[in-house]
Amino acid sequence: MLWTFVTIVLAATLADAQQPPAQPAPPPAAVRRRAPDFPQRPAADQAIVDRGKAVYGVYCTFCHGADARGGSGGPNLIRTAVVLNDQNGELIGKVVREGREGMPRLDLTNAQISDIAAFVHSFRVGGYDVSRMTPPTILTGDAKAGQVYFEKTCAGCHSVNGNLKGIGTRIGDPKQLQQSWLMPGGGGRRGPGGPGGGGGGSRIPPTTVTVTTAGAKVEGVLTRIDDFFVSLTDKEGTPRTFTREGDKPKVEIHDPLEGHRKLIPTYKDKDIHNVTAYLVTVK
Ligand code: HEC
Ligand code: HEC
Repeated sequence: MLWTFVTIVLAATLADAQQPPAQPAPPPAAVRRRAPDFPQRPAADQAIVDRGKAVYGVYCTFCHGADARGGSGGPNLIRTAVVLNDQNGELIGKVVREGREGMPRLDLTNAQISDIAAFVHSFRVGGYDVSRMTPPTILTGDAKAGQVYFEKTCAGCHSVNGNLKGIGTRIGDPKQLQQSWLMPGGGGRRGPGGPGGGGGGSRIPPTTVTVTTAGAKVEGVLTRIDDFFVSLTDKEGTPRTFTREGDKPKVEIHDPLEGHRKLIPTYKDKDIHNVTAYLVTVK
């Protein structure tokens, strides 16, 4: 939908307007002295760190690891310049919103990003923080409760006898399975117009776009869009680009995952574990 795009642009504009509050004062010199390179930041409010941990768990853990020290395909974040220089998410947020080679652009709110930042900054830069290791198995959920949740929340679009048949077999690794339903396509290169990303063997249809000019209606796979141009690849495989000026031509974006994505902020940790535990049993 065009609205999705407009909302993203709006959110980005608003994001500039509402910078998160400033960090509390740095720790006294006596504390700082111990870690000469990169002083530990003052601890953020635990509630904020917990919120950040939950959002990070959904969007970042798969690639950067639960402890931010590297995961499937993403680098260790703790000692990167971006993270070390970031205060409240302003630098991390830029990477998240723009994406990187091998990292999809993610449309998170300013609040979510500053929560993630608080979580990432809560790690000791030097030592290895054992308390934050992932539990040995993520299958701590209750499959029965997960099934109830699934029927209420997901069954409108999915069925375990239909499009999710055998998902627990197809994506055997529980971690991958969890990522596949939290963020389909996110674990792979779901570049604009690219084929549905890996994410453990998922097959996500691409985002398409309809451009209606004075004379014609052109449809295809969206490859790029900004305020000035929209590019697509049409049915014949021909790349097409149109100049945009305000709402001309009319551009309608169809993201097959829009409804699926809208749910992400509504999941609680418990739901996530329960649904994964349930999907593992779907043979
Ligand atoms: C699909 C895997 C993937 C996901 C999901 C992902 N990243 Fe990344 N991320 C990467 C890769 C790969 C790079 C390295 C890109 C490069 O080398 O330019 C990266 C780079 C970064 C960097 C820059 C590090 C540096 O060296 O400058 C930051 C910060 C970052 N990611 C934060 C996040 C956060 C926060 C999230 C969740 C909101 C996230 N990433 C989700 C794969 C991912
Ligand atoms: C509004 C519709 C909608 C809702 C609600 C929804 N999804 Fe999806 N979901 C999709 C679409 C569309 C796709 C991408 C196409 C596909 O793979 O079927 C998708 C993809 C997936 C995939 C990846 C499938 C694969 O082949 O890798 C999984 C797993 C999944 N959803 C699970 C869930 C779960 C669990 C819920 C509930 C918590 C849910 N979805 C809610 C529409 C929805």
